[in-house]
Amino acid sequence: MTRIAVTGGAGRLGRSLVAGLAASGHDLVSLDRAVSDAPELAGVEQVAIDLSDADATVQTLAGTRADALIHLAAIAVPFSAPEDVIMRTNAGLAVSVLGGAVKAGIRRVVAASSPTVLGYGAPTGWVPDRFPLDESTPARPWNAYALSKLLIEQTIAMLARQTGDATRFAAFRPCYVIAPEEWAGALTQQGHTVRERLDDPALSAPAIFNYVDARDVAVFADTLLAALPEIPNGETFFVAADDALAREPLAELVPRFYPGTEEVAAVLTGTTPAFSNAKARDVLGWRPAHSWRGELRDAPTGPATATDSVTATDPLPDLARKDVLA
Ligand SMILES: NC(=O)c1ccc[n+]([C@@H]2O[C@H](COP(=O)([O-])OP(=O)(O)OC[C@H]3O[C@@H](n4cnc5c(N)ncnc54)[C@H](O)[C@@H]3O)[C@@H](O)[C@H]2O)c1
Repeated sequence: MTRIAVTGGAGRLGRSLVAGLAASGHDLVSLDRAVSDAPELAGVEQVAIDLSDADATVQTLAGTRADALIHLAAIAVPFSAPEDVIMRTNAGLAVSVLGGAVKAGIRRVVAASSPTVLGYGAPTGWVPDRFPLDESTPARPWNAYALSKLLIEQTIAMLARQTGDATRFAAFRPCYVIAPEEWAGALTQQGHTVRERLDDPALSAPAIFNYVDARDVAVFADTLLAALPEIPNGETFFVAADDALAREPLAELVPRFYPGTEEVAAVLTGTTPAFSNAKARDVLGWRPAHSWRGELRDAPTGPATATDSVTATDPLPDLARKDVLA
């Protein structure tokens, strides 16, 4: 059993991750702005803290006596706040939380980055050298959210250079996270049900049809934390489903939404996803257990219940709604 501190533990991914790690027998403490009454956190120790306060964060992390930290807290949706606020918030949290963990003596430190670091969806166009995309694909962020996520990866690299192997780090890039209730019809991040995302490919095209079940991310995190002492320090991993969130082969869908990719996307036949999870499989032995093909149940047609989707009263630009997924 490991004592694991999770920042952003009350969030969309955090709740499933905390519940999954607790179910695996670990001792969890969730750090978030406020204590949550989410059922997944029932019985889990929670600490209410503003993690942008670096001193309070070090003290709190030291007080948790955690062996490991998973850093999720962030502004998690591109363009959901002004660009300077996203940059300042996510970059500041990276330093206060990840640096704070080192100061607090936590020896295993993992942080959530994002596939968006690759830069797909850039208004000036984007054509990768090849598909599937993997950890060797160059990062070309085009907005503050993606840049802040690359900065988190670089913060890990910086801290690893400071501490050597005394502290073990890794970053992971979860694909579009689908929480268990979303298979049954609750709204996904930024709205729409999973079924609507499948019925209208334009809705999932901004993430190049990537996705991952939140429970698979929890198993990934468990596997990664266990492996950290044995694998090279400071690695980055995509965490992706084995298939694409699409009913048609991506060889046909991707060029429709990403002009100029006809040739490179030709390898994406059948159910092949755009993002490879081979590194997580080869280095860690992790495989996703869930696919939309096995999970999607007929959802009721009534209003969905997600609380953190973008709403009609949201004051953000249209771009945030339809073009960019985390
Ligand atoms: N959900 C996805 O599809 C997805 C995909 C790729 C990457 N990610 C990354 O995974 C992480 C979690 O995403 P999510 O969807 O659960 O986001 P979320 O918005 O649901 O949760 C983020 C949590 O962080 C907390 N938080 C933010 N600032 C804080 C602060 N200053 N102090 C304390 N707590 C603070 C929020 O209260 C919230 O509970 C994020 O880093 C996000 O960028 C998510």
